[in-house]
Order: sequence, then structure tokens, then C-alpha cells
Amino acid sequence: MSEKPVGVADIGVVGMAVMGSNLARNLAHHGNVTAVYNRTDAKTDELIRDHGSEGEFVPSHDIDDFVASLKKPRVAIIMVQAGRGTDAVIEQLADRFEPGDIIVDGGNANFLDTIRREKDLRERNLNFAGTGISGGEEGALNGPSIMPGGSDEAWDRLKPILESIAAEAEGEPCVTHIGHDGAGHFVKMVHNGIEYADMQLIAEAYDLLRRVGGHDTAALAEVFDEWNQGDLESYLIEITAEVLRQKDAETGKPLVDVITDQAGSKGTGVWTVQNAVGLGIPVSGIGEAVFARAVSSKPKQREAVQALEKGRPEPVAKPDGFEDDVRAALYASKVVAYAQGFDIIIAGAEQYDWQIDKGAVAKIWRAGCIIRARFLNRIVEAYERNPELPTLLADEYFAKVVADGEAAWRRVVSTAALSGVPVPGFASALSYYDSLSSDRLPAALIQAQRDFFGAHTYGRIDKPGVFHTLWSGDRSEIQTEGSGH
Ligand code: 6PG
Repeated sequence: MSEKPVGVADIGVVGMAVMGSNLARNLAHHGNVTAVYNRTDAKTDELIRDHGSEGEFVPSHDIDDFVASLKKPRVAIIMVQAGRGTDAVIEQLADRFEPGDIIVDGGNANFLDTIRREKDLRERNLNFAGTGISGGEEGALNGPSIMPGGSDEAWDRLKPILESIAAEAEGEPCVTHIGHDGAGHFVKMVHNGIEYADMQLIAEAYDLLRRVGGHDTAALAEVFDEWNQGDLESYLIEITAEVLRQKDAETGKPLVDVITDQAGSKGTGVWTVQNAVGLGIPVSGIGEAVFARAVSSKPKQREAVQALEKGRPEPVAKPDGFEDDVRAALYASKVVAYAQGFDIIIAGAEQYDWQIDKGAVAKIWRAGCIIRARFLNRIVEAYERNPELPTLLADEYFAKVVADGEAAWRRVVSTAALSGVPVPGFASALSYYDSLSSDRLPAALIQAQRDFFGAHTYGRIDKPGVFHTLWSGDRSEIQTEGSGH
């Protein structure tokens, strides 16, 4: 039996499902001696058999051998399904690691779990870097966008390794230290929330072009290809065209037409909305996307309402310039979704005491990740112009995008309503924009109602202080605070 290698690997990967083995291959391709371990030996053996010649791998069938094969301070990336099993693997490593060693969780973990795990491991003098990795299987292999959290000490050790495997945008690696403890997984969660919103908006555009625009699937692929040449250029638009071109082998129909119209989800979009609600941040674009998936997945309710014999509205005649209008509405709605996404990053940073550089986040999303897009350069520039921007919508470039597209946006939303085409993403983005830009909101009436039934008090526009009307008395007004005595 040959000697087991000790202290030779620059980094190790635990979990040899597709994401883990692709990440291990990416690490090895870039000159990192990479230790690999999986709970069952078959997957490790498969990686070595099929890809062992691509770089220097150090396979182990035993967790003790795996740990021993790592150079000190040790670094191991866990690539197992989030939630299930992560704590068990952390425990296995932590029991064997020494002070200063680093455990990286590269799964889609809930950032609150990451905060807890980081604290536990810090108390044991170990580093824990919860790290968002985006780009799917292909990204893991050829260059993902990487969002590491954890301590500065862990980042110093991880930086060269992660930079070697990250995607590149304009010569810069798509990885930056997001912030301490759960910051990396928080930002990855928001990335996924934005991904949901972006996908929903694209789906609404597709539906409008199909049902009102009258395009068949082949023509739709052309439209998305064309959009991908302009400001909307992005991975999600690009794959939309590819998906629309795909034919079902069995029926010869476009594949999209034979796929069940019920969208699934694994939870990160829901987490984004739950956390945004807790932080008081209106992420309506992400919320509508989560809800739209939920509505689609309620077949009984859909059938029950469809069974009502009331007839559906006929789509209105296709308006002139409809495709351009839909493109403008999509772009404006997308600006709203991203603006809201950055709002929750700002609120999360405040709540959890992270120093998050918004421009740097936009930069590392320019390549490798699912929401990569030309448009992210505009966000980078916006935060360069003003790092304290109150909302992306107030930036000069985005304000112009919305102003230029506003009339089209309104036409599209009203056309959709008249035609009975659901556009929750487009419509709620427009309402959000109208809310921010209205000089007076009906919130005044809500305040009066609250005061009526619950004496919840209100402020006045003409003087400082807190006021209450004696609704069940003589209806005179009293000042409850700030009267100066
Ligand atoms: C990525 C993706 C990836 C995955 C999500 C979305 O950044 O590579 O966001 O994390 O696609 O899990 O999943 P659901 O749509 O199933 O929630």
C-alpha cells in the first residue's frame, strides 16, 4: 500500500456531487493541489477516473486522511446540499481541524445558519467562511462569481485561491470579501432573489409577446436574441432565446410548450422576501416573482377558477411598436427589481453590522453568476458617482432609463390588464415607481384610520409633533407629544 499523502494539498473539497466535483476540477485546473472527499467513495473514484489527469488531485476515502492531506492552515470547502448534512460535515472537520484552519461552506446556506456556525467555530478558534457561489454547474467548472463572508484572516488565506478560480469581468476576478460572518450568504440570497425577479419579468415579456404580440416561439427566440444585443444583454436573456429554440424530440413541438406551467423553487427567493419584510424593505419585484411561482403551482385553485364559465377577455389588437414597448417595460421593471435588491443589501448591512461595498458587489456579479448582465456596469458606475445613493432609481443613468421608458411601460401594463395577461412583475414595479415619485400618498388616510380605531396618532404636514383626534368625543384634536410641556 502506498503512503498516504500528508500536508500536500492547497485546499480540499468535501462533497463530490456535480457542483463539488466541478469546483474541485476548477481548483485543480488553476494549479491548486486539491484534496477531494465524499461520503461515499464511488463519486470520488469517478472524479479521479474521469478527470484525474486534469490537475493535481489528492483523493481520500476517509475523513482523517482527507484532513491529513491538507497543508496548514487547512482550507476545506464544503459543497453538500444546503441544510441537510452541512452541520454534520462541519462537525467532522471541526473535530479534526486546528486553530486557524478554515472551513468554507460553498452551498446556498441560510445566512442566519452561517452566522450561528461562524460564531460556534470562532469560539473553537476555527475560521468559518460562508461563501455564496453562483453560476450553476457550468460556472463552478469554468469560473463562478464568488461571495465569501467570514473573517479578514480567512479572506487573506482564501483570496489567491478564490481569485484563481473565479470568473473574470474586464480583467478583474469576480470575487470580493463581502463582509463578516453571514454577509456572503446574505448577498448570495439577494442575488437569487434578483434572479427570481429577472426571470419573472422575462417570462412576462415572453407571455405578452406571445399572447398580445402574436409571435410564435421561433419568432420569440429572435426577439430575445435581438434584445441580447442591446442594454438588456444578459445571461438570462441569452438562455431564454436558446430555450425557446429547443424542440421536444418526442412531439416536435417547442420544448417550452410541453413543459408543465408550474414553477418550482428551493427557498432562497422566499428567504429574501421573508428577510426583506422583517427589515421593512419593499422588495415587491422579488415578492411578486416568488408569489407568481406559488400561484402557478396551485393547480386546484387554477382549475376551479378556470371552470367558471365567464369567458376570458380577448387580447387587444397588437399596438404599434409593441415589441419595443415591452423591451422598455422590461428594462424599467428590471431597474426597479435591482434597486430593491440593493436596498435590502443596504438594510441587511446595517442590521448585521457588515461593511458591504455595493459597487464591489455589482462588479462581481458582472460575470460568472446567473444574473450577469451588461447592465451591472451601470450599477457599478452609479455607486461610483454616489456611494450613498438613496435608491438606484435616483441615479442619473437609471432615472433616464425609466423616464425614457415610462410611457411604454404604462402602455404595456394597461394593454396587459385589458388583455387579461397577468404581469405582476411589470405592474408592481410600475406601482412602486409611481409610489416613490408621487408627492402625496394615500398613507395619510391610513394614518387617520389608524388614529380613529386605535388612537395610533399621526403627524401633521404644517407643524411638528404627534397628534390625535378625539374621534369618539368632540372630535377636537390634541397634541400627544412634542407640545413643549
Ligand atoms: C446560482 C443559482 C443557483 C440556483 C438556485 C435557484 O446562483 O447559481 O442561483 O443557486 O439556480 O438554487 O434555485 P430555485 O429556482 O430552485 O429556487
